[in-house]
Parts: sequence; structure tokens; C-alpha cells
Amino acid sequence: MLMNVVAQRLYSSRPMDQPSAKRSKVTIKTLNRLYKHGEPITMMTAQDYPSGMMADRAGMDMCLVGDSLAMVALGYDSTNPLTVDEMLHHCRAVARGCKSSFLVCDLPYGSYEADPTDAVRVSLRFLKEGNAEAVKLEGGKEMAETIERITRVGVPVVGHIGLTPQRQSALGGFRVQGKTAKQAHQLLEDALAVQEAGAFMLVLEAMPEEIATYITQQLKIPTIGIGAGVHCSGQVLVQNDALGLFDRFVPKFTKQYANLNRIMTDALRQYHDEVKSRAFPAPENTYPIDPRQLEKFWEMVGEHHRNEEKHEQERAVRVHA
Ligand code: KIV
Repeated sequence: MLMNVVAQRLYSSRPMDQPSAKRSKVTIKTLNRLYKHGEPITMMTAQDYPSGMMADRAGMDMCLVGDSLAMVALGYDSTNPLTVDEMLHHCRAVARGCKSSFLVCDLPYGSYEADPTDAVRVSLRFLKEGNAEAVKLEGGKEMAETIERITRVGVPVVGHIGLTPQRQSALGGFRVQGKTAKQAHQLLEDALAVQEAGAFMLVLEAMPEEIATYITQQLKIPTIGIGAGVHCSGQVLVQNDALGLFDRFVPKFTKQYANLNRIMTDALRQYHDEVKSRAFPAPENTYPIDPRQLEKFWEMVGEHHRNEEKHEQERAVRVHA
């Protein structure tokens, strides 16, 4: 008991909520089991230690360090400027917080398209230096050779077709794909080619539900939908969209589960106001000193009158009482 009190006094910080019971590690085997049993796979993006930790604590099967972080966390206008080093930095941070979910990292634009050998090298860096467990890359048939080369060296690959944000300038913006029969057929061919090349999972972004459902039925690997309807093998959302943190625009396919932007701005405003009014820090946020040590200190700095002032105040309080 006494030891506890001493320990509490020695610590200068308060423990926050502790995570609930530890989950077992999600692996590719776990994901395949969920897929086989028809249980939807949950994937959520994260861009740093706290967002990775929260996704993990919420029980996500998979955590994606998506290059959407270029826009929602770094303020770029598109995902294209993001560099490999920036992405590795974010991936390592997420990995430190995300211990149980299966961790996938996007290959940044320009790091893998030109040459499959570059793609292999950069993918290995994401597993070796970023602590990712798989990489994700955008594109269909034209990326088949690259996917094959990456998977051949033992790096699991998640494909991504439909709205591929890295190609938004060629697509004419962030637009829904597969709205004509010809485009939809192309998506199906891309999906089959990505599967054939060895990808273990495929993200389907922004396409009509019927097309995504049909593609899902034709494949033997799980599909993860975002704006692709409810019949995919799982779903992914961008965390900053789902929590209402990113408010520059809200894609139609997003559901806002909270409005943290408002909650956080209100909290920061309250702090600002409390500092201005000296309501913060309160006594419970300040560190006490043994009164005898304080007296000694006043004597050391030649401020004896401070002791007298204090005694005077104490006398006044007693008289009043
Ligand atoms: O970058 C990202 O967040 C993504 C998801 C939208 C799938 O690729």
C-alpha cells in the first residue's frame, strides 16, 4: 500500500485509459479464413502512431497506410507529391501503434510504375524499413508483371482498381469508374489480371455496386470496397474522413462516424480561453513543494519577507475563521 502511494507520487504523469484485452495478431491466414467464412474484412487507414493505435484498438482486421495521407494529413492537393521517404516515415509510426491489425502500405506515385525492378526494391524497403506486412499499388492489367515480380520475392501485394487517385489527372479528376458497359468490362479484366499476377487482395474504389459485386463473385481473392457497395469481401474508409477530421471535401462514399474537427476545435478554443483567463493551469495541474523547502529557498534568495507575508496570510485566514 505504502509502496503504491510512493510510486504514485514519484510519477509526474497520470495513466490514460489502457487498451482492452490484447488481440491476437491478424495474418494473411486470418484474412483468408474471414474471406472463406464470408465475414466482412474491416480495413481502416492510418497515418501516424495515434491513428494506428486507435484503428488497432477498435479491432480492425487491417490497417492501411494509404497515400491519401498526402491530402488528409499533409495538406497536398493530390497524392502525387508524396515521396517514398515521407511514406516510410508514416508507415513506421503507424506500425508502432498498430500491433494486431495486418499492416499494408501504399507504394507512392512514381516509385513503382516505370520498372518492375524498381517496384521490387521499393516494396522490400516498405517491409524492411517501414515494418509493413504487404504493399498496395494502383493499376490493372498493365501492372500485372510488376505484381508478379513483387510477389515472387515474397512481398504480399494488394491491388487497387476503379478510381485510382494517383491517376486522377488522366481520369479527369476523382470520378466514379465503370459506368459504361465497356469500362465495367475493362474493370473485370483488370481484376482478373491482378489476381492472376498473384495479388492476395484487391481494393475496388468508386464503381457501381453491381459491377463490384460481379467482380467479387468472379474472384478467388477478397475484394475491399470503398464506394463499391456492400457486397465486397470487406470495406475500407479513410480515417480522417470517417472521423470528420478532413473537411476540404467529403466523398459521397464516406460515412462520417464523428465530427472530430468540431470537437477538437472547440477543445482547443477552450484551452485558449482558459489560458487567457488564467483558469488553466489549475492547482491540480501544478507541482507542490514541501513548505520547509520553500521557506529555505526564500531565505537562500534573500526574500525572507515572503515567509512573513505567508504567515501573515495564514494568520488572517485563522482570524477570519
Ligand atoms: O490511399 C488510400 O487511403 C487508399 C484507400 C482509399 C483505399 O488507397
